[in-house]
Amino acid sequence: MTAGWPARARDLFLRILGVMAVLSGAAYFLQDSLLHHPEGIELPAALALARELRLAPWPDAAQPRGWLRSVPDAARGTVILFHGNGGHALHRDWYADMLQQHGYRTLLAEYPGYGHRGGSKDEASLAGEAAEMISALGRAFPGPLLVVGESLAACRAAAALVQVEYEPLAPVLTIRDAIAQESFHNPPRRMTRGDCAAALAGASHGLAGEFEFGGQEHFYLETQAAWAEPGDDGDVFIASSTQHPSEIQAIVSEVLGLPRNKIVVQAPRMGGGFGGKETQGNTPAALVALAALKTGRPVRLQWDRDLDMTLTGKRHPFYARFEVGFTGDGVIRAVQADLVSDGGWSLDLSQPIIDRALFHLDNAYYLPAVRLTGRIAKTNVASNTAFRGFGGPQGMLVVEEIIDRVARALGMPPEAVRERNLYHGTGETNTTHYGTDIGDNRIQKAWWQVLKEAKFLERRRKIAAWNGAHTRVKRGLAVTPVKFGISFTLTHYNQAGALVHVYQDGTVQVNHGGTEMGQGLHTKILGVAMRELGLPASAIRMMHTSTDKVPNTSATAASAGADLNGAAVRNACATLRERMAPVAAKLLAEKLGRAVGANELEFADGGVRIHSLALAATGGRERQRVEVSVLFAEVVVQCYHARVSLSATGFYSTPGIHWDWKTVSGRPFAYYACGAAVAEVEVDGYTGMSRVRRVDIVHDVGDSLNPGIDRGQIEGGFVQGMGWLTSEELKWDAAGRLLTHSASTYQIPAISDAPMEFNVTLLPDAANDKAVHGSKAVGEPPLMLAFSVREAIRDAVANFGKPGGQVPLASPATGEAVWRAIEERTKVTTGLTASAGRGPIKAAEVDKLLGETP
Ligand code: MTE
Ligand code: HPA
Ligand code: MOS
Repeated sequence: MTAGWPARARDLFLRILGVMAVLSGAAYFLQDSLLHHPEGIELPAALALARELRLAPWPDAAQPRGWLRSVPDAARGTVILFHGNGGHALHRDWYADMLQQHGYRTLLAEYPGYGHRGGSKDEASLAGEAAEMISALGRAFPGPLLVVGESLAACRAAAALVQVEYEPLAPVLTIRDAIAQESFHNPPRRMTRGDCAAALAGASHGLAGEFEFGGQEHFYLETQAAWAEPGDDGDVFIASSTQHPSEIQAIVSEVLGLPRNKIVVQAPRMGGGFGGKETQGNTPAALVALAALKTGRPVRLQWDRDLDMTLTGKRHPFYARFEVGFTGDGVIRAVQADLVSDGGWSLDLSQPIIDRALFHLDNAYYLPAVRLTGRIAKTNVASNTAFRGFGGPQGMLVVEEIIDRVARALGMPPEAVRERNLYHGTGETNTTHYGTDIGDNRIQKAWWQVLKEAKFLERRRKIAAWNGAHTRVKRGLAVTPVKFGISFTLTHYNQAGALVHVYQDGTVQVNHGGTEMGQGLHTKILGVAMRELGLPASAIRMMHTSTDKVPNTSATAASAGADLNGAAVRNACATLRERMAPVAAKLLAEKLGRAVGANELEFADGGVRIHSLALAATGGRERQRVEVSVLFAEVVVQCYHARVSLSATGFYSTPGIHWDWKTVSGRPFAYYACGAAVAEVEVDGYTGMSRVRRVDIVHDVGDSLNPGIDRGQIEGGFVQGMGWLTSEELKWDAAGRLLTHSASTYQIPAISDAPMEFNVTLLPDAANDKAVHGSKAVGEPPLMLAFSVREAIRDAVANFGKPGGQVPLASPATGEAVWRAIEERTKVTTGLTASAGRGPIKAAEVDKLLGETP
């Protein structure tokens, strides 16, 4: 960046360029098909994406940057036609001529055009993509359009000139369609433990079933956004709302054919990411970078809400087929399950997501034999992506569904079946289906503590009585556990870097590779730096994440942001302390009139002092701490004069983990985050509407880096999980158009949907030696505590109609779905195969089956 940037940025931002991109999102292209030119030339369907730009006139490319002149037709935009090397010049000229006739200026951008926008190399960018798609369809067209204009109106006007005619092609819209047509992204993954077939055959009881459930829109408050400014060295600066600045850098490098050292990506704090900005910021960033380089002007782009919801990937919906073998008292012997996720049109992160689903199909349960497969359906919807939990929630939901069906088949309380299948003991019964010994078993701790805190048994009785007295409205209660593996399953992602500068006035800048998206990462890491350097918050500034400060970073994801980057910052601070210690020791020695060893020192309270143990060793002679300390800033100045470097990098890579899909073996996770939740709901039998009366959570955050933030993550994650499971429903029309693309049709939880009573306990005495300062990752795991709400709703539904039998419940369990489930039950009184059912849970049974809290 050049000097004076901040002031200029503000200035320029007021007159910033917008972008209107007409790009062929492949999904839509396939669905929406072709555009017919008046002369009969077929052109691709395009999406008009408009964004504001309030700049005055368009400078000639040859003029210095920022040079403005007034142009009478400032309302006009400039259309940039991009085409790659695909040789579609003919049609390109048609576009150019047509637009020029209407007073638009056009620039043809020659660029490699075959770079990819996705890490999986199946999202050819812009022209390249268009060319590939067209050749696949045997048609020709000029390549996508990017419209850059001075105003939103100008962009829209230019876009309006593009006429689109639809020639619908048959899309693949559902997982079932994809299975039927064998439309998959790649071969299945497999994971096995023991001889599953034999275990299934040998089990006294068995059942088989299917389960299909929906995805989830991220609904971050800030939609995808990026702006770019060309530098004076053929370079480009990009500010992006991204969880993964290094990938933005890599993608821009590919798309523009620029080396990565010419690209700086900064990631200011996001207005939410939730996994939706791990890859989905690539396209907007690539577009603004391209437009900025081509025009020599800063260019900004932000999808509006409808476009964001339409274009970007969501949580993967899943379809599962399973068979389970179990004993008469509800102990699971074997699970065979085939998972198919809806990957959408491109692969994106679908592979590691289905992998994580396979790793989490056990949730917190010991499954002695499994045979699992995971496969990604290729459909023509938006390409699905990371969402808090990253496939974990989907795998876990499947086993929770299985457990419930087992419980109802046996007529046992679901909590009893859950409890007796929890990981327990040591060795085999505390070892996952992929061979990891879980070690200390906090699942059991959280489980028993939450039952106690929630007064589960007592409330079971009360609710049973209440339900007996009410016919229209029923209450339900459920408890579910969570175990979530911490680490990227792609081992090499588990690394992070930091860069810490100390200035001569004793103030500090901390850079690290993680991004802030509202999860409080910077605040947590500020806390780490404060502890490590013994400084108050006011002396430390957390810098914007930027690829020129810390290179080659991983996405801030997998909940590992604080673990990885916090440790890197800790290591950088340790280096600084080591360098400063001899200088501080000398200063203290002068003060005390004795030799002081570097190992006697402690950085605390804004200074460096002899630590208390060393003080005690002096037999009380040096008790006056103030007298035996020097100010941090004083030491810094002395370091500077002694020519000691006051800038350090830090690096961290998680030890002891590796995973190999070739041999399906290794230890993928550094540790597990565990928790358990009890939820009580009330369901209205006439409307299907439910509300959450009370939730109790016990969750393991280790020795929390920041209990306030962790509580926020637990509560927020829980409510977001509730949204996924109970109210957020994505719907498409028969042509594959997303119908639920705004807040009016897609229902995220409101504050009034949060549990009326919400008790969160952080598992006590839980220091974790596997992460920085004894902490534990918290970002994703609590989302899955919301299974308790789904199961509590099911428990309430079970109290309608004839007792017993299975209680099928769609996911999401929306008002309509719950109403239908109740309808089924009340109608079914006749037909339901309730043979095994013994009715709703009776208090005495609960007591007997749950046993006493240890
Ligand atoms: N919390 C808020 N407020 N906003 C977010 O976007 N993202 C979640 C979680 N909590 C998110 C959030 C997701 S998907 C992840 S992986 C983690 O935060 C990432 O941050 P961390 O690794 O620092 O926990
Ligand atoms: N979690 C989140 N994001 C990821 C992962 C993961 O395990 N792997 C790759 N990106
Ligand atoms: Mo979170 S889904 O790993 O970004």
